[in-house]
Amino acid sequence: MDLVRPTAQHLASYLSALQRISTKDDPFFKMYERELAEIAQDSASFLASMDDLEAKRPPIELPNGSIIPRLPSITRWMWDGDVCGSTQLRWLPGTTDLPPYCLGHISYAVFPWKRQRGYASTALALLLPSARDLGMDFVEVVADVENLTSQKVILRNGGSLVEEFTKPVLSGGGQAFRYRILLETA
Ligand SMILES: CC(C)(COP(=O)(O)OP(=O)(O)OC[C@H]1O[C@@H](n2cnc3c(N)ncnc32)[C@H](O)[C@@H]1OP(=O)(O)O)[C@@H](O)C(=O)NCCC(=O)NCCS
Repeated sequence: MDLVRPTAQHLASYLSALQRISTKDDPFFKMYERELAEIAQDSASFLASMDDLEAKRPPIELPNGSIIPRLPSITRWMWDGDVCGSTQLRWLPGTTDLPPYCLGHISYAVFPWKRQRGYASTALALLLPSARDLGMDFVEVVADVENLTSQKVILRNGGSLVEEFTKPVLSGGGQAFRYRILLETA
């Protein structure tokens, strides 16, 4: 499995995965629905926005309907001959601080039929150098207290626990762990 910058070559595989997963029961349903609309409207712009260094993508609608601004981000797809999931790095320029509604610098999701193969662990490892290239000396990654698998992914990548905290109501509330992964400077 490798991380790829999304291109037209990967799009058919991504679309067929989204169509397979888009049910109202999936926690990412709204995000996938929005992405399907963006792709239908202008797939070239959608692909270009996977490197959104100036935060020009449409704002994010949270599960409770709140709208929050985008941070600069890069999104990469996990690829093993098919798209297996995605991972995103987002940041505020010139700082490792994040606004309270942004739960960690890096997030990842693997399609259910591609899980338990080490893909999330590998994806996180492969994205860390991009954070280092931005000048960051650490990244924060957040996992819900009940998400043991995500916690293992973070620990396997050298994460150390910073704190347990209550997620903002905007982000759905509930308890989560905040981890920090130190990045070696070149
Ligand atoms: C959390 C999530 C990303 C994990 O993805 P994943 O690709 O299954 O994760 P990994 O395979 O790297 O590690 C998970 C498990 O696979 C096991 N594993 C690792 N390498 C493996 C391999 N080569 N073969 C088989 N199993 C392997 C790990 O030991 C771990 O096992 P366990 O948690 O069942 O004990 C995925 O479940 C998901 O998308 N969940 C919804 C979104 C989410 O919660 N994202 C995290 C918040 S940002």
